[in-house]
Amino acid sequence: MKINVVVIFGGCSSEHEISCMSAATIVKALDPERYTVRKVFITKEGLWRYYEGDIEHIDARAVSEQAPEAAILPGQKKAQLMVLRQDAWTALPMDIVIPVLHGKNGEDGTIQGLLEIARVPYVGCGVLASAASMDKLTTKRLVMPTGIRQARYVAVFAREFESMEAVLDRVEAALSYPVYVKPANAGSSVGVSKAEDRAALEQALHLAAEQDSRILVEETIVGREVECSVLGGETPKVSGVGEILAADTFYTYDAKYHNAESKTVIDPNLPAETVEEIRRAALTVFQAVNGYGLARVDFFVEAETGEVVFNEINTFPGFTSISMYPMLWKRQGYAVSDLVDELIEWGLRR
Ligand SMILES: Nc1ncnc2c1ncn2[C@@H]1O[C@H](COP(=O)(O)OP(=O)(O)O)[C@@H](O)[C@H]1O
Ligand SMILES: [Mg+2]
Repeated sequence: MKINVVVIFGGCSSEHEISCMSAATIVKALDPERYTVRKVFITKEGLWRYYEGDIEHIDARAVSEQAPEAAILPGQKKAQLMVLRQDAWTALPMDIVIPVLHGKNGEDGTIQGLLEIARVPYVGCGVLASAASMDKLTTKRLVMPTGIRQARYVAVFAREFESMEAVLDRVEAALSYPVYVKPANAGSSVGVSKAEDRAALEQALHLAAEQDSRILVEETIVGREVECSVLGGETPKVSGVGEILAADTFYTYDAKYHNAESKTVIDPNLPAETVEEIRRAALTVFQAVNGYGLARVDFFVEAETGEVVFNEINTFPGFTSISMYPMLWKRQGYAVSDLVDELIEWGLRR
């Protein structure tokens, strides 16, 4: 019996395009002998469409206008994928969902909540880990008791903007320039900026507030950016380490996806004990947020001290052909198809 897999992709976050690329990679890696794959495309407006074509050649407009509506309904005895055809809902078998969604409404626990209520198994982190990891303020607080170093920060709320001078004073009292300003909930560097002075800080706060009313201002960590992949359930596996060489002043959205000069290096030249510390910390962070299935955990290695500083955890990391998550596992001998098999197994086992 083949396993009925539903891949949900697209979505209304700023990472819609990345999700499509990740989903294309994942669908290609699903062995047709083992799985029957069905696809649900979420448009940027949040409409769900049953999509039967190639993800690489998806025409979002045409799909949103012509493809059948799709739905997953809570409260059914057996979860099924509902598709609207000729004005009637038909039910298709659905054993597991892969929510290949990044960012808001996808990686943040909301779709996971829907899938829980619909009683359908799914790949990856549950509601709590997804929500906590998406929210950079909450992640900071959950990781604090582990003792793993993080950038010092000041939390700012958009409602405080009325007394902007006081906000700026508060930041300046705690941190020195340059500082990083980021929305608590976002992704792919959208709304993130580096501020060199008070005027830039104010501007950066407004920019971040377009993404979320909760904002972090962080001390700048000068050093290298490294990432580590985690895979599994109760006793997860941890990959080696990869390094990001950003082409820009920092790893911006453009540097991530449009700049060919941004490079990722697997097994960069780092002291062996630093690599081990990063791998240990990746597992600790994964468990601190109650991770399950997969996550990519991102760190800095500070230039001056060599210290490992935790930056963020992504519960559905990019799965594009240039993404760090699959590349780190490739080095350990796992093809994307092996990863997907294992993720599905963990999803079914939960
Ligand atoms: N405290 C910091 N010090 C130095 N660089 C930072 C800091 N915070 C973020 N950055 C830079 O900004 C990029 C995006 O920030 P990040 O927190 O990873 O947000 P996102 O979820 O958008 O990826 C990072 O990859 C890094 O290049
Ligand atoms: Mg990041």
